[in-house]
Amino acid sequence: MTFSAPHRIVFANEKGGTGKSTTAVHVAVALSYQGAKVAAIDLDVRQATMHRYCENRAETASRRKIDLPGPLCEVFDGSTVEELEAQVARLGQGMDFLIFDTPGRDDPFARHVATEADTLVTPMNDSFVDFDLIGQVDAESFKVRRLSFYAELIWEARLKRSRTAIEQQRRQMDWVVVRNRTGHSDARNQRRLDQALGELSRRVGFRVSHGLSERVVYRELFPSGLTLLDKGHLGELGTSHLVARQELRTLVASLALPMPAKDAPPIKPPNKSTAQLALETGKAA
Ligand SMILES: Nc1ncnc2c1ncn2[C@@H]1O[C@H](COP(=O)(O)OP(=O)(O)O)[C@@H](O)[C@H]1O
Ligand SMILES: [Mg+2]
Repeated sequence: MTFSAPHRIVFANEKGGTGKSTTAVHVAVALSYQGAKVAAIDLDVRQATMHRYCENRAETASRRKIDLPGPLCEVFDGSTVEELEAQVARLGQGMDFLIFDTPGRDDPFARHVATEADTLVTPMNDSFVDFDLIGQVDAESFKVRRLSFYAELIWEARLKRSRTAIEQQRRQMDWVVVRNRTGHSDARNQRRLDQALGELSRRVGFRVSHGLSERVVYRELFPSGLTLLDKGHLGELGTSHLVARQELRTLVASLALPMPAKDAPPIKPPNKSTAQLALETGKAA
C-alpha cells in the first residue's frame, strides 16, 4: 500500500517572538481535534518551545488521566539535510500533516523546510519592525521600497516549485502571512500596515490572514500544554476565551488545508422501515 506524502505546514520567519511556536502548537492541536493525523518537528533545538509544549501536554494528560489529542512531536538535532529528510520520511509515514516549527533566524534547515513547504505560515506582529522581514518601506510615504532577502528566497522557491509542480505532482506552495498578537497598535499604524501588506502581497503573492490576538491566556496555558480547544479541561471560561477559540478556528479555516476524507461509516444491512414491517406483519404502522 502506498501512502501519499503528508502536507507540510511550515511556521517560519527570521525573527523571534512573533508567535511561530504558539501558532504551530494551536494549529497542530486544532487539526488533531478535526481527526487528522499530525506529526511535528521542532527545528529550534535551543528553545524547542513547540516540543516543550507537547511534553507538557503529555504530562498533563497522564497526570489527569485524560485524553488530549495532539501531534506526535520530535526535535530535529541532526546536522545535515539528508538526516532531516530521513526523519521527515519516518515521522511522516501515514500522517496527514507534518508541521515544522523553526528558529527565528536564518538557519539552513529552516530555509530547507520553508522552500519545501506546501503551506508556509509567516506570523508577524503588527509593527513595521516585523514587516521589515518581508519588505522595506519608505520612511515618508510608507510605500514598499524593496523586498527582503527572505521574501526573495520564498519568491524564488515558489517559482521553482510551480515549474516542477506538475511533473512531481506536488502542490503549489501557499504562503500565508498571519497577523499575530493584534490589538495593541493604534488605528493609524494599522492602516499603514494594511496598505503596505496589501501592496506587498500583490507583488510577492502571499495571502494575509488574521491570527491570534494578544491574550495572556496564550502564555498561561504553556506549562500545562493545554490549548483553548481543550474544552472541559480548562475550568471556567470567560467570554473572551470563547472569542479566542473562535479566532483560532477562523485562523485554521483560513489556512485552507486539505483535510483527510472522514472514514466512511460502516455499511449496515438496509433496515426495513416501520411501514414495511407493518405491511409484512399485517399491523398498522
Ligand atoms: N497571541 C498571543 N498573545 C499573547 N502572547 C503571545 C501570543 N503569541 C505568542 N505569545 C507569547 O509571546 C512569546 C513568543 O511567542 P512564540 O510563539 O514563542 O514566538 P516565536 O516562536 O516566533 O519565537 C511567548 O511568550 C508567547 O507565549
Ligand atoms: Mg519559537
